[in-house]
Amino acid sequence: MKRLIKNGTVVEATGRRVADVLIEDGKICAVGQGLSADGITEVIDATGRYVLPGGIDVHTHFNIDVGIARSCDDFFSGTRAAACGGTTTIVDHMGFGPAGCSLHHQLEVYHQSAAGKAVVDYSFHGVIQHVDEAILDEMASMVTEQGISSFKFYLTYGHKLNDADALRAMARLRTVSALAAVHPENDAAIVFRREQLVAAGQTTPMDHARSRPLECEAEAIASMINLAHLAGDAPLYIVHLSNGLGLDYTRLARGAGRAVWVETCPQYLLLDELNYLREDGLKFILSPPLRPHTELDKLWVGLADGSIDTVATDHCTFPYHQRQEMAQGDFTRCPNGLPGVENRMALLFSEGVMKGRITLERFVELTSTLPAKLFGLWPRKGHFGVGADADIVIFDPSRRYTVRHCDLHDNADYSPYEGMQCQGMPVTTLSRGEIVAHEGQFTGHAGAGKFLHRQPFDHELLRQHRSFVPA
Ligand code: URP
Ligand code: ZN
Ligand code: ZN
Repeated sequence: MKRLIKNGTVVEATGRRVADVLIEDGKICAVGQGLSADGITEVIDATGRYVLPGGIDVHTHFNIDVGIARSCDDFFSGTRAAACGGTTTIVDHMGFGPAGCSLHHQLEVYHQSAAGKAVVDYSFHGVIQHVDEAILDEMASMVTEQGISSFKFYLTYGHKLNDADALRAMARLRTVSALAAVHPENDAAIVFRREQLVAAGQTTPMDHARSRPLECEAEAIASMINLAHLAGDAPLYIVHLSNGLGLDYTRLARGAGRAVWVETCPQYLLLDELNYLREDGLKFILSPPLRPHTELDKLWVGLADGSIDTVATDHCTFPYHQRQEMAQGDFTRCPNGLPGVENRMALLFSEGVMKGRITLERFVELTSTLPAKLFGLWPRKGHFGVGADADIVIFDPSRRYTVRHCDLHDNADYSPYEGMQCQGMPVTTLSRGEIVAHEGQFTGHAGAGKFLHRQPFDHELLRQHRSFVPA
């Protein structure tokens, strides 16, 4: 099966050109001007459109059991929504398993959860919910045999790690060439504030934000930066950054040559804490919470100046009706997380590229190229090199539309972005050369997505990409 995408503007992190893209057997076969259409099964006219590497969302939670509830997007509906939004690869964060379970146990659970369901390619981040010799010893085989080269641990929630365990985990992850991803929020500070609020009967959605102000997050980021250094300069990835103070700590660390990588999410770029004052404020409960409006601008500066490396979604869907039923007016009983996997590419394109805050090349770097390099998917994903997977999204920059949940493909009953005006639409998505979404319609099928055996974390590849990384 041969496809030819004609006359589009092909954009990579390194530049753009008007060119054709030839696809054969799911791979990029050639990129150049005036490629012949002889023997081509299908020609896609991309005149006036941008042809970009498919999006890579490295932070989703499909079908996750968070103890009090299970997120309602599974690997079918979640990847279907991803495909319709121009995302062709997801790396999902495994949830916690039974107390004391092994790393491989959760991997097996997740393989079963995704197999036969995913419509685009996928992988998982390991989850470290406790640390002992057996867990440390499993890490090497998770990387080399299972292709899992990043692991997340939490500093709050039920299975949080203490400093001693975080140090041991990061030291071993470094030696097995894996990336340590951390949910940074200081648990003691959150508990301290939450107890005071609850005792005073303050349990509204806005009290959720008051219970974990940005200092809780920034403190944990600073702490992890220093612990990663003390663990032997373990590479560190900060997930879902929401504020400028935390960003400043990562800038300082990078200035000192520390390998610290930073992810933010559309909700922290576009939504502020005033949403908690809405009648339906429960729709916005997530952790870290939405921040004061001044923080949004600081993150946009970080996107533009290169201090932030990836934009992912943290897609974790709990319907509004479920939130209301469970919370009963008390934020502490509401499951945390927002949907958004289908909106990421379009929102960042519209608010970032079309409003002149970031270049198209930077858009590609944030949404695809750096995620690929950080998470062991390069050179298979994230660019248009010959031999790479033909994961492609075609954007029409002239389309204007309004986000409506009824047009989305997840299992939520709302969108946090409802009513937002967008310019620039992902009109066609190809996964390994097959059209999986077109004009807002899903055209793929369950089980077409393949598990990606990821490469170990490649320090040298990242050093070539970013100057702050030490040799
Ligand atoms: O509130 C959130 N973000 N829920 C998903 C789990 C996590 O912390 O990433
Ligand atoms: Zn988290
Ligand atoms: Zn998350």
